[in-house]
Amino acid sequence: MTSTSRPAPLLHIDDLRVFFRSAQGEVPAVRGVSLELERGEAVALVGESGCGKSVTAASVLGLVGASATVSGVIRFEGRDVTRLPAPELRRLRGRDIGMVFQDPMTSLDPCFSVGYQLGEALVPARLPRGEVRRRCVELLADLGVPEPEVRLAAHPGQLSGGLRQRVMIAIATACRPKLLIADEPTTALDVTVQAQIMELLRRLRDERQMALLLITHDLGLVAHNASRVVVMYAGLAVEEAATRTLFADPLHPYTRGLLGSLPGARGHRRGQRLLAIPGAVPHPARVPAGCPFRDRCTLAVAACGDCVPNLDEKAPGHRVRCWRVVCST
Ligand SMILES: Nc1ncnc2c1ncn2[C@@H]1O[C@H](COP(=O)(O)OP(=O)(O)O)[C@@H](O)[C@H]1O
Ligand SMILES: [Mg+2]
Repeated sequence: MTSTSRPAPLLHIDDLRVFFRSAQGEVPAVRGVSLELERGEAVALVGESGCGKSVTAASVLGLVGASATVSGVIRFEGRDVTRLPAPELRRLRGRDIGMVFQDPMTSLDPCFSVGYQLGEALVPARLPRGEVRRRCVELLADLGVPEPEVRLAAHPGQLSGGLRQRVMIAIATACRPKLLIADEPTTALDVTVQAQIMELLRRLRDERQMALLLITHDLGLVAHNASRVVVMYAGLAVEEAATRTLFADPLHPYTRGLLGSLPGARGHRRGQRLLAIPGAVPHPARVPAGCPFRDRCTLAVAACGDCVPNLDEKAPGHRVRCWRVVCST
């Protein structure tokens, strides 16, 4: 490497594919996702439920399980995550990459106190024993948890949804990771708490230069919380652009459909019912040949069934996977 070459991005995913072996045969949950995240940057991965967002996130952490075959490239700070020995992967998870899940009850253990679980998350920090409790209190206080000493003794079931999510974020960020993957971090919460949690994530990013991979089905969450967006459909990245560009000039009919179903978005008039995209995401084992969106697409023509479109660059940094858009210039 020469001294003028660009440092490796924090996270580099290229043509990720994940197949699960199941009783019904092979399930191609992810069929081609590429994305890059720089240090301190926030990128959103957006798409309806079942598009392969969580499987993509789990792949970065090596958490897809033994029934999965993962191919493609996943590099964290230039290191190939898919080839790391298990102990190094575990270290990466705790220390360099934190993960927040949609439902904290699935990732917090109901049998152990908040203090115990937060203490476990601090193990990689190797603090002197007397320091751990003080640091736990500090972490909770920093994340806006009232009466942190009292909460340390509580079990997750005794906390509200918003507090549980704060505890989850405290655990995920306890060792000051360089990257936080937040998978639908606010879906289970009401709108006010949702705004507080997103504000909290923004503050952590600003203060710690932490990068964020925000996974959501809600484009409304993306506008103020990510600088770039990758839109996924049926296991494929179908559009990628700077957030502002994506909102101002969405190219893929799927992205346009998602935006049309957003209150206040272009094409949506106040008082009008939200336009949901008719139909549903196909199950990965039953994705039609050609463009996977064609059955739901108002622009589809016969040729869309021939083969999967490439992800083409329409403008610098703006890529789209659609025959109609590609052919329109
Ligand atoms: N372990 C697994 N075995 C088989 N199929 C799976 C497994 N995990 C996820 N899938 C399938 O992969 C698809 C994508 O799942 P997921 O990534 O969770 O979607 P999203 O997060 O976008 O809602 C879904 O159809 C899901 O049923
Ligand atoms: Mg998911």
